[in-house]
Amino acid sequence: MRKQLFITWADICIMKSKMMNANKVWYVTGASKGLGLSLVKKLLAEGYRVAATSRSAAQLQDVVGEHEDFLALEVDLTDNDSIWESVQKAHKHFGSIDVVVNNAGYGIGGAAEELSDKEIKDCFDINVFATINVVQHVLPFMRAQGSGSIINIASIAGFAAAMGWGMYAATKFAVVGFTEVLAEEVRDFGIKVTVAEPGAFRTEFLSGASLVVSKNKIDAYESVRDSLALYQKRDGVQAGDPNKAAEVFIALAENPNPPVRLFMGTDAYARANAKLELIKGELEQWKELSFSTDFPA
Ligand SMILES: NC(=O)c1ccc[n+]([C@@H]2O[C@H](COP(=O)([O-])OP(=O)(O)OC[C@H]3O[C@@H](n4cnc5c(N)ncnc54)[C@H](OP(=O)(O)O)[C@@H]3O)[C@@H](O)[C@H]2O)c1
Repeated sequence: MRKQLFITWADICIMKSKMMNANKVWYVTGASKGLGLSLVKKLLAEGYRVAATSRSAAQLQDVVGEHEDFLALEVDLTDNDSIWESVQKAHKHFGSIDVVVNNAGYGIGGAAEELSDKEIKDCFDINVFATINVVQHVLPFMRAQGSGSIINIASIAGFAAAMGWGMYAATKFAVVGFTEVLAEEVRDFGIKVTVAEPGAFRTEFLSGASLVVSKNKIDAYESVRDSLALYQKRDGVQAGDPNKAAEVFIALAENPNPPVRLFMGTDAYARANAKLELIKGELEQWKELSFSTDFPA
């Protein structure tokens, strides 16, 4: 067959997008599986440069494969020094950090009374404090360059929580609150910030390898057991496609004016709407009591 000698418009678009992307460096946490891995693969395929973290750099390198634009970083996200080192390494290696995705995180199920102090604090360390630490370490670089995008992955549980997921919700509410204010604090420096609030996505999230359930179980919390069982049954059949989520994260970073909050998936959209209606109803129903606490005008 004859070789194609002319360049099509599509070829030009791909080359142009690769040239634009070539300057952008992404830093993604928790990338050896799930949403993080899908994102890293998509980014590399589109010509971006990527530094990504994992508890095991070898495992991360193995699943991503060798790539000249990829830097696998072994990071202990519970250790602020380890996070700092990884950010410095990524910046030194590529010369900039343009987009940060705080993706690492895991679900924790169980009633408030059942979960141990350690189970709760461990989860806050990864879902909340690692996110805050990463942000604190990348901001000096982003402020100096006068640009950057930060995408923090929370969850629909950070806006409309479900029975049995109270502590997970607490971590994700923290991420949402922190991110909403961060967006305002750094807007004038040219830094764009979004908190993504996904519904159920088909990753390892609900599998035994990722999900933590309270070791202590109290018989009285049957409703919590039922709710968790219902969610765990959805493992492998969740509606959300991680590859489409990756496309959305890239679109957010490329958008000059992205939303501060993005609910992802039809389930997240429906749950957010139901919660808004609930809040609106409660707000009106209890308005008189709310107003009763002011000093007289
Ligand atoms: N999938 C969903 O339905 C869903 C819905 C809402 C929000 N989310 C959020 O989306 C993010 C990604 O989750 P996923 O769905 O992709 O789940 P996943 O397939 O289980 O992947 C989770 C990633 O987070 C990292 N991680 C998990 N536990 C960790 C720990 N103890 N210490 C350090 N890193 C840890 C892992 O990194 P390494 O193994 O590479 O170290 C892993 O790559 C999480 O923040 C999750 O809360 C997911």
